[in-house]
Amino acid sequence: MKHPYAKVAAAIAGVLALAATSVAAPAVFNVDREFYPFYPSLIKWNKSPAEFTPPADCGGCHEKQFREWNGSVHQLAFLDPVYQGELNKAVKAVGHEVTRQCEGCHSAAGMVTGEIKGSGLAGLSPMALGGVSCDICHSISDTTHWQTPSHEPENGSMILSPGLSGKGGTDLVKRGPWKPSADCGGGFHKCEESSLHQQADLCASCHQVYHYDAHFPLEATYLEWKHGPYAQKSILCQDCHMVDTATFKRTADEFRKPERGEYHHYFNGANYLLYYLAGAAAERTGDRELVASLKEKYQMAVEHLKSAAALEMTPVYRAGQLSELKVRVKNIRAGHNLPTSLTNVRQMWLEITAKDEKGKVVLASGAVQKDGTLPENTRIFNSDGMGKDFHFAVDPWVVTAFSRHDTIPPHGYKDVFYGMNGAKGAKKVTVEVKLRYRQADQKVAEALLAAVPKDMNLKEIYGLEKVPQLPVVDMTMERQTFQVRK
Ligand code: HEC
Ligand code: HEC
Ligand code: HEC
Ligand code: HEC
Ligand code: HEC
Repeated sequence: MKHPYAKVAAAIAGVLALAATSVAAPAVFNVDREFYPFYPSLIKWNKSPAEFTPPADCGGCHEKQFREWNGSVHQLAFLDPVYQGELNKAVKAVGHEVTRQCEGCHSAAGMVTGEIKGSGLAGLSPMALGGVSCDICHSISDTTHWQTPSHEPENGSMILSPGLSGKGGTDLVKRGPWKPSADCGGGFHKCEESSLHQQADLCASCHQVYHYDAHFPLEATYLEWKHGPYAQKSILCQDCHMVDTATFKRTADEFRKPERGEYHHYFNGANYLLYYLAGAAAERTGDRELVASLKEKYQMAVEHLKSAAALEMTPVYRAGQLSELKVRVKNIRAGHNLPTSLTNVRQMWLEITAKDEKGKVVLASGAVQKDGTLPENTRIFNSDGMGKDFHFAVDPWVVTAFSRHDTIPPHGYKDVFYGMNGAKGAKKVTVEVKLRYRQADQKVAEALLAAVPKDMNLKEIYGLEKVPQLPVVDMTMERQTFQVRK
């Protein structure tokens, strides 16, 4: 027979279960779909008869800005074959309703106007193909960073207002850092002074990428910056990425803002691979000016990487015997973590070789293997993505957490210890350490480039028959000799 308590307990449990079903637990991430009509992109568009203007039209009057922007990662944001491959995979996996999220950042105008209807490039206007073009940034009238589901800048949380309509008709309005001069806009557009264009908040909307549904920060460049020393000293994204290489180094070293005349529309980061590919495409169309500009941008990206970090070696002796080597990796000039952004795809790692006085290798780690992959024991600084099933994942619509997140904060460091027991019996060891970088693992790059939409012919556009071994940049290198016995 059942104990009477059991009956009471069952009744209480029943009531509790009822309560649980009738009062829904509040969601962790609340989404206001009316406020965000393009969800999962969080862009808002002040729709008016004022249309978006393609970049070449702005370039007609603003030749210098156009020349600098043309060939930049922002210009290539939609045409980028690596993006197109991943996007095409995403459309197939989760559908175009969800991939509007991607387009909101990679081609905002093409998304809000509804021009982009799926994967592929065929038939798209210069405005849609223009990626992050002039009239995206200069139409941003405000942000909604704090109303987002995560209450942080996220997935394009900005308001696009390319113009204003009133009794007198429709005016294009472009926003910039200056107080407008009398002839500002040359009769083509009105001007508005915008403090937002002198804040990192302008960049934040797109440089905080969250999972479309789980709101997990897949890329957190803005918040890394905001929580670091550069934000404390008012050194903005613009101050390192909208200047030439020498000015960037001065800014980073002295925490000194550039002079007004020193800003340019380069938006140069680290993606030398994309400049390399775009350069090959420009060679094929015979655009000499663009080829020259892309070569310069390639050099700038490599130079960014080469000036971002420093290495230090310290031998550790135990009982007079060299037992370990401490390698300190320092982030000396990146305004955010190193690496940043797509940290579950980018690769930054240590390659180390130690030889004794006879040239015998006593320690080796991190050398790229024949098939382009890195050995298991490589010390790598990046993240491992994992999906809802807690398994390793790469695709941004699957990754909802990082199982490993190992990047170096701005002006911070990480120490790596290598056991030196292999050197026992030797007199001296000479150690060479390199900090190396590439855009992706060889296999990941091959998979993405193999997935580009049908109307993107890699052989025709880039002359690519197959994906060559991805180029690696040596960010910095140290070589030192140590006594084995002290
Ligand atoms: C909030 C804005 C935003 C959203 C949403 C977004 N991206 Fe991106 N994406 C970026 C930024 C910024 C970068 C550059 C990061 C870097 O260079 O490390 C980037 C880089 C990439 C790259 C690497 C390109 C290269 O050449 O290495 C791929 C691939 C990519 N995105 C695909 C996607 C896909 C697919 C989606 C949708 C599932 C998506 N992105 C959604 C902003 C966004
Ligand atoms: C990613 C956003 C972004 C894009 C894309 C962009 N700009 Fe700008 N632009 C800015 C910012 C930020 C400033 C302010 C820089 C400063 O503080 O001087 C600026 C400044 C300007 C100015 C004022 C003068 C100057 O150079 O500082 C003009 C004119 C201008 N942009 C035109 C253009 C044109 C034309 C294009 C396209 C070819 C373009 N912009 C693309 C963000 C952008
Ligand atoms: C008919 C010529 C003309 C065209 C086309 C044009 N502009 Fe301008 N724009 C001007 C002039 C003139 C000024 C004021 C002088 C200057 O700053 O160069 C100006 C100023 C600006 C400024 C600085 C505003 C400020 O107060 O900081 C921005 C930003 C800008 N334009 C963006 C654009 C963008 C984006 C486009 C394309 C949508 C565009 N312009 C198209 C002529 C033009
Ligand atoms: C409308 C969205 C958007 C805005 C606003 C925006 N970006 Fe970007 N940015 C992107 C996307 C998308 C990419 C990557 C494109 C790709 O790799 O295919 C990118 C790439 C970059 C890169 C190149 C990264 C590399 O790997 O080389 C830099 C640097 C950059 N942005 C700086 C800025 C700065 C500085 C601002 C603010 C002045 C800004 N961005 C505003 C969307 C945006
Ligand atoms: C003090 C200088 C400095 C500041 C400030 C700064 N960056 Fe960077 N950024 C760098 C350097 C150096 C690199 C190259 C090394 C690396 O990849 O981190 C870089 C790389 C990048 C990349 C490319 C990452 C990749 O792997 O392709 C993006 C995107 C970027 N920055 C965006 C931003 C944004 C957005 C901000 C503002 C929130 C910002 N940066 C502030 C110096 C700076």
